[in-house]
Amino acid sequence: MVEVKSHGFFKFLAPVYDFGARAAMFGQYERLRQQLLGKIDVRKGRRVLDMASGTGYLAEKMGVVDLVCTDISVHMLKRARAKAKGDFVLADAHRLPFKDGVFDATVSSFAMHEVANPSNVMGEIFRILKPGGKIAVMDVVQQTRFSKKILLEIFHTFVEMRTASYVNISQLKDAFRAADGFNIQLDMFELVALVWGKKKSEDP
Ligand SMILES: C[S@@+](CC[C@H](N)C(=O)[O-])C[C@H]1O[C@@H](n2cnc3c(N)ncnc32)[C@H](O)[C@@H]1O
Repeated sequence: MVEVKSHGFFKFLAPVYDFGARAAMFGQYERLRQQLLGKIDVRKGRRVLDMASGTGYLAEKMGVVDLVCTDISVHMLKRARAKAKGDFVLADAHRLPFKDGVFDATVSSFAMHEVANPSNVMGEIFRILKPGGKIAVMDVVQQTRFSKKILLEIFHTFVEMRTASYVNISQLKDAFRAADGFNIQLDMFELVALVWGKKKSEDP
């Protein structure tokens, strides 16, 4: 059984999440979301998974696609359902209840720091992608430079209330073995990494 760290926490966070997330993003909320969605070709008819959709930060901007949102918190998922059209599936990201190669794109924002095993989760969101499908993942990541470590520590304490386990960039890069290339863009004082790519046409 995979440990799920923040399930209960999100029950209480759900009602105030949207307000809190906007405040925590220092006014970058809309821009970051558009950056991520710009990497996956949001188009009518495309089947897209928003993994750990939360209250629908990405979902509410993907009206035209054939959308599936998954999350482990029913409280977060209910809020997403009120904002977006699609299928809403209560599921642990470590074991997504989908067959291999059924999505045209998978996205995930600010969730990798919540899951027990980010490499496993990255493997899952590659597994369910069609060959040639697009993937884009965004999250706050571990820092190497001293000044950025301090900044992350402040963010971790005052925004995340010390509940997060940030991934490092090499972990994300490793997860892109199944992709053609690894693209990365750092944002929001370099605390946030947006990584994206395309699943190889043939499985390695
Ligand atoms: C910080 S919120 C981000 C939500 C949304 N993607 C966003 O950008 O606002 C993290 C979400 O991950 C979900 N989560 C945590 N662990 C999970 C897991 N093991 N499987 C699926 N979802 C999980 C939480 O319930 C929560 O909705």
